[in-house]
Amino acid sequence: MSLILERENMKRKYLQLLAALACCVAAHPPQPAYAQAGLTDEQRSAAKSLADSGTLAPELRLSAQDMAWWRDAKLGIFIHWGLYALPGKGEWHMYNDKVPAAEYAKLAKDFHPAHFRPEGWAALAKDAGARYMVMTARHHDGFAMFDSPSSYGNYDSMHAAAHTDFIAGYTRAARAQGLKVGIYYSPMDWRFPGYFAPRELADNAALMKQQGYGQVRELMSNYGQVDILWYDGGWLAHQGSDADAAWFWQPELLNKMVRGYQPKVVINPRSGWQGDFDTEEGDAPITGPVRAKPWEKTFSLSFRAWGYTPGGGAMAPERAIRLIVDAVTRNGNVLANMSPDPDGDIPVDQVATLRALGAWMSRNGASLQDTRPGPYQPVDGVYGSTVKGRDVYLHVLAWPQQRLNLPPLAQRIVAATRMDGRKVWFEQTAGGVSVEVPADQRDPVDTVIRLEMAAAVPSLAP
Ligand code: GLC
Repeated sequence: MSLILERENMKRKYLQLLAALACCVAAHPPQPAYAQAGLTDEQRSAAKSLADSGTLAPELRLSAQDMAWWRDAKLGIFIHWGLYALPGKGEWHMYNDKVPAAEYAKLAKDFHPAHFRPEGWAALAKDAGARYMVMTARHHDGFAMFDSPSSYGNYDSMHAAAHTDFIAGYTRAARAQGLKVGIYYSPMDWRFPGYFAPRELADNAALMKQQGYGQVRELMSNYGQVDILWYDGGWLAHQGSDADAAWFWQPELLNKMVRGYQPKVVINPRSGWQGDFDTEEGDAPITGPVRAKPWEKTFSLSFRAWGYTPGGGAMAPERAIRLIVDAVTRNGNVLANMSPDPDGDIPVDQVATLRALGAWMSRNGASLQDTRPGPYQPVDGVYGSTVKGRDVYLHVLAWPQQRLNLPPLAQRIVAATRMDGRKVWFEQTAGGVSVEVPADQRDPVDTVIRLEMAAAVPSLAP
């Protein structure tokens, strides 16, 4: 579900809840909203997540210092890989096509990838300019891509034809490239009828929860240092939001356990706990001002799905670059997904996009990575800015006039250059800053201009 819809939904529920509670609040000593009697579990969860968004298990949030590497990194590569690569209809195939669990499970007999070379994936990610990777350890279909004693029915890649712990290979390869290691995990599992009726089939749902806690424990304790834990699907019966399902999953307990094993792991918000950063899913354009909480845009390079689909095509590099620039100038990161085929090979058109992205990043990456949002609020479709010490980087996406006219800066500009050192014409007055790059020298995606300042410039999101 889109984050905006999710938020709107939660906001609406919370307002209803506040109205319902108005009488009690006056009559009784203040209590947290979720502790009030007579509420449904969903109401409690919604209230919990919103009312306490800054206070629910605040001790689990990482410090600004521990989040710094993630905020510096800006670009990560996602990998969706599992049994669903075989039918090639996307990772939702089992649910969308109503494949019975026993039928779907037969795929495990045919899944023995001939080219599982995670070193190649990691090298590709690194060449693309990424600093971290995130791989699906288990998606909603329930098949674990690792050695998982907690898996219900030994449904894992060690006990199937592959006889391989893919997560072990992946984590080693990413680390060997100097990339931070992220693990995607879906607590929900379509094999459990209890997922669809958690109250009516409470015992079955409890088994699913037990499996979830067990597998998260395995992932957090068997693969060395894990840098990112990327949950997906903390919701129930595909209804409501992740936060609505917090009554069931108890994400504050789950993540407390996680912190016990991996004190510094960066956790996303999709377990129903607020998380260390926000997520925004899909390749819709990014607009609006700089966002206060660090966030991550995630999209698939394939047009059809996150998992492999033959002939799925690939996003043009220009579009991927634009999403990265628009995210970073607004305090965000990008996690771009690639989809290995059943043998473990990355589709060639995805490779081509990542290589082109890498070429662009090697020229311009310094204007994005290790920066913070600059002094200027972005203007949608026109420009944005980043800052690193005394360097302000202007990212000019379009030139409405020959010169780009910007609001004033308190600090003096010493020089204006392109990333390759070419000089850029500029003018600074009390009324504003103007820059100009001749039309034939502009970059059609993003003309980056480095303003060297006489003094450090504060970020809009330090
Ligand atoms: C959605 C989809 C899932 C995908 C994820 C990536 O939540 O359910 O298939 O893994 O997005 O963000």
